[in-house]
Amino acid sequence: MDRNLALEFVRITEAAALASSRWMGRGDEKAADQAAVDAMRRAFNSLRIDGTVVIGEGERDEAPMLYIGEKVGMAGPDAPSVDIALDPLEGTTICATGGVGAISVIAVAERGRFLHAPDTYMDKIACGPGAAGSIDIDAPPEANIRAVAKKLGKDISDVTVVILNRPRHEKLIAEVRKTGARIHLIGDGDVSAAVATGVVDSGIDLLLGVGGAPEGVISAAALTCLGGDFQGRLKFRSDEERARATRMGVSEIDRAFRMTDLCHGPVMFVATGVTSGPLLKGVSFLPNHRAATHSIVMRSATGTVRTIEATHDLARKPATMSGR
Ligand code: FBP
Repeated sequence: MDRNLALEFVRITEAAALASSRWMGRGDEKAADQAAVDAMRRAFNSLRIDGTVVIGEGERDEAPMLYIGEKVGMAGPDAPSVDIALDPLEGTTICATGGVGAISVIAVAERGRFLHAPDTYMDKIACGPGAAGSIDIDAPPEANIRAVAKKLGKDISDVTVVILNRPRHEKLIAEVRKTGARIHLIGDGDVSAAVATGVVDSGIDLLLGVGGAPEGVISAAALTCLGGDFQGRLKFRSDEERARATRMGVSEIDRAFRMTDLCHGPVMFVATGVTSGPLLKGVSFLPNHRAATHSIVMRSATGTVRTIEATHDLARKPATMSGR
């Protein structure tokens, strides 16, 4: 994959972040998501790739745009064939309530390199490069926290674990509290939290708990670039979900997936902040119809992590991007 491609993809997440950030705090999740989807779909049209969405807005019958299997990009004879895992607005509720850590995100890999995860839950564990090699999805939380603390050279009481604040995590939270580790409970947005484990100054060491499976694949792509670790196990809510996983080509649907099962490189990951969080600053609107965005761009081939701060002149951007 051409390295310049990563910088092209960032224009797409910027467009989606700019459009959805107009809906920050307005209490309308659907409108915020729709704005992101429209802007992202439109921005793909100017990219010379032969892309296939493998993780997207849902199946074709439930999502009119950016659905699983949709072809995106201009294609053409020398356009690279790539698979795309995307979430135009990861954290719809966060955006609608003006909360912490909504992002727009795309991961890109060569054909066939992402697990085609169905829209079900996934039990997840994620850590950054400093703790890689120490975690195990099959071990109890206490053992993982102890192993991460040891690997990082920290006391357990200095380890920070991020967990989605959900009733299903009551037992997990109690177990983590018992170890003495710090907990950062988040309302939504476990991609941003998983990626933050790989960013030294984010203050987050470990992600534990159950979240969306598609989000798990996207997180694995980022941690592949960062040299961290991610492991997951699908958690089905119904037989229909199990059947869907099999239909989507997932084999051994009950097993623990290692990071390389979810995504194997070379892979690229780009994200732009919609609202500010541990990973990225959100979109801010400046005087004279300008707006600032903060993005992260990573490639597994080199391990380079770029952060890009951009100022956009909205008067000169298409209406979808400026949100007008
Ligand atoms: P959306 O952007 O689709 O609303 O997802 C937000 C999110 O918090 C994800 O980050 C997380 O993986 C998932 O929802 C958790 O699902 P649930 O809200 O059902 O617990």
